[in-house]
Amino acid sequence: MTDNPTIRIASMDDLEQCVAIDAPNFNIFDRKKRRKHFEEMIPKFGMIVLELKGIIVAYATFDSDWFGCTFLKLVVTDLSVRRQGLASQLIQYIETHFCPSGKFFSSTEDDNDSSKRMHLKQGFTESGWLDNLPQPHREIFYFKKLK
Ligand SMILES: CC(C)(COP(=O)(O)OP(=O)(O)OC[C@H]1O[C@@H](n2cnc3c(N)ncnc32)[C@H](O)[C@@H]1OP(=O)(O)O)[C@@H](O)C(=O)NCCC(=O)NCCS
Repeated sequence: MTDNPTIRIASMDDLEQCVAIDAPNFNIFDRKKRRKHFEEMIPKFGMIVLELKGIIVAYATFDSDWFGCTFLKLVVTDLSVRRQGLASQLIQYIETHFCPSGKFFSSTEDDNDSSKRMHLKQGFTESGWLDNLPQPHREIFYFKKLK
C-alpha cells in the first residue's frame, strides 16, 4: 500500500494532469474524448482525483443520481502505480461520500479481467449485462449494497 494518498474533488485545474494519466490498454477514450468527459463531470462534482506527493495518479468519475443510485462511470490508475490499492481507495471514497442511497452500481467490459477482479474484491456482485454497445465485448454490470 502506498503512503499518504490524498483524495479530493477534481477541479478544472486538474484537467491536463488527468488527460495525461497513462492507461495504454484502456482505449475506450482517446485523449480528446477523455477531456470532454472530464469537462462534463467536473462542474457536476462528479469526479475525484487521487494524488501521491501532489501528483494526480488516479481518478474516478461517477453519477450519484443514476436511477436514484450511484453509478461508477470510470476509474483509472496510472500504469506506474497499479496494484497498490489506489483504485480501491477511490471506490471506497465514493461509497463513503457520494452514495446516499446505499446502492452502488458499476460496470466494465467483459474482457477487462483486472477490473472484474477489482469489482469482486471490493464486494460488488454481478448484476446483469448489456449487449449491442459500440464496443467489442458486452458490458457487465455490478452492484453493491452498502451497510
Ligand atoms: C482496473 C484498475 C482501475 C485497477 O487499478 P489499481 O489501482 O491497480 O487497483 P487496486 O490496486 O485497487 O486493485 C484492487 C484489486 O483488483 C484486482 N486487480 C487489479 N489489477 C489486477 C490485475 N492486473 N490482475 C489481477 N487482479 C487485479 C486485485 O484483486 C487487486 O487486489 P490485490 O492487488 O490485493 O490482489 C487499473 O488496472 C486501470 O486503471 N485499468 C485501466 C482502466 C480500467 O480498466 N478501469 C476500470 C473500468 S472503468
